[in-house]
Order: sequence, then structure tokens, then C-alpha cells
Amino acid sequence: MENIGSKAVGLSRQYMQLRNLATAAAAKPAVAPRIKKFAVYRWNPDVSGDKPHLQTYEVDLNTCGPMVLDALIKIKSEMDPTLTFRRSCREGICGSCAMNIGGCNSLACISKIDTNLDKPVKIHPLPHMYVVKDLVPDMSNFYAQYKSIQPWLQRKDESKLGQKQYLQSVDDRQKLDGLYECILCACCSTSCPSYWWNGDKYLGPAVLMQAYRWMIDSRDEATKDRLDRLRDPFSVFRCHTIMNCTKACPKGLNPGKAIAEIKKLLTGFATKPEPTMNPAG
Ligand code: SF4
Ligand code: SF4
Ligand code: FES
Repeated sequence: MENIGSKAVGLSRQYMQLRNLATAAAAKPAVAPRIKKFAVYRWNPDVSGDKPHLQTYEVDLNTCGPMVLDALIKIKSEMDPTLTFRRSCREGICGSCAMNIGGCNSLACISKIDTNLDKPVKIHPLPHMYVVKDLVPDMSNFYAQYKSIQPWLQRKDESKLGQKQYLQSVDDRQKLDGLYECILCACCSTSCPSYWWNGDKYLGPAVLMQAYRWMIDSRDEATKDRLDRLRDPFSVFRCHTIMNCTKACPKGLNPGKAIAEIKKLLTGFATKPEPTMNPAG
């Protein structure tokens, strides 16, 4: 009996707490809405005659998260389910939400909404890419270029592959810092004027930085072949060191510098240093 009695007292306390919370919420003064306009690029290839245009949505920032991706998700779930964009991790790791926000390529999930309500945010897909729909660019060429640089560790003798780990000194490992962190979002490549005009033949900063990441890896033995594949007027030398790429990178990386290092290797101004630790042990 005593047990039932104490449970009843507990429940009654909880009820009172909930009631007090509800009363406090009801007593809160109404907050004025903070309406922000988002002008979003729309184009649907499935609607015959549809032309690319900007569609404006109004979002109350009081009921929206702080990032541009929060606003896009709110628009899609509460106003217009047809709005199409890519996203996955929502924390700057997957690279899928790359788009052009207010004239700069960036990741929507880590781009803060400008809270100046007088200024609409313009959102376009990554520039100079074919568009699949709305904010979704066609990444086929970009991925084919990435595949072309063979982004995996290569050894002359691969007969013992998988039997033993390859060794690398701390100093050699440090040479990969600033390279391996790339999330292949393509913000840099699609901000590069050389890539805009020659994207079919010039590999662009993202892919070249990954090419360099494998060239400089002390465990990789395919550096000569990797360089030979890039010996033509377009693959690397269309980079004119404009450095838009480095400015655009939302991860703070420096693809322009990696390209300069490849140029040094290609022209013989530098050679790959010998490993300071034998990778085979
Ligand atoms: S340095 Fe300039 S030309 Fe070279 S990849 Fe970067 S933006 Fe393009
Ligand atoms: S270098 Fe930066 S901008 Fe370019 S693909 Fe990698 S993470 Fe994106
Ligand atoms: S959602 Fe993954 S980087 Fe933005």
C-alpha cells in the first residue's frame, strides 16, 4: 500500500512540474518573426519547357537552425518538397552539400545564415557544372578525373599485399597533412576559371591535390608513372596560379600549393625524397 501511495505522490509531482512548464511557456511574450528571404536556383528537366530561375522562399529565422542547410531542409520539409539538393553528414565531412551561396562556393551545412534580413541569400549549384536538378550538379566528369589519377597506394611488388602493414616514419606521415583531409567537395575546382573553360582536359585543383597526395606518400612506388600520366599541356599546366581554389576551400586546405609542388616534380625542380623508414620493414 505504502508503495502505491509513494508512486501516486511522485506522479502528482511530475504533473505539477509539467503544468508549471506549460504555464511558463504560455506566459512568454510573443517573439517577432525574423523573416529571411532565400532565392534558390530551380530547374527541373522533367518539366517540359522549364527554364532555370530563382524561386524565393521566406524563412522565419526564429524557428530555423543557424546554417544555410538548416534553412534548405526547413524549406523542403515545410514549404516545398520538390526542392532538390544533396546532403548527408551535416557537419562538413561528406562534401555532398557543396553549392554556391551568396557568390561563394561552400558547404551549406557549415555556412552560417547571414542574419541581415534586408539581404536575400542567393543559392546556386556549383558553377560551370551540368545540372541534374535544382542544386544538384552532375559530378560524373569530376569523379572520372579522380579515378584517372589512381587514388590508391601502389607498390612495385604487390605479391605480399595484405600480409603486413607498410611502415612510415612520423616525418614522412606529416607530409600528407593538409592533403588527406580533402573531402572531394569540388568547391575549389568549380571556383577555378581554368577548370571552367577546360574542365574536360584540365584535372582541376581537387583532383590534382589528391594526385600529389599519392605521389608524395613515402610508401607509394608509382610516382614516376603518376607524373608521366600528367605530362601534357592540359592536365596540370592549365593552372595559372590564380589561387581561387585555395580561397574557396571550406576545409582550409591549399590545393594551389599542391599543384605548384607537382609542377616542380614535373619540371625537375624537385624530386621525391627517399623514405626515411623502409616501408617494407
Ligand atoms: S591556382 Fe588558380 S588556376 Fe590553379 S587550380 Fe587554383 S584556381 Fe585554378
Ligand atoms: S581541396 Fe578543399 S575545396 Fe577542394 S575538394 Fe578538397 S575539401 Fe573541397
Ligand atoms: S552535409 Fe556533409 S558536408 Fe555538408
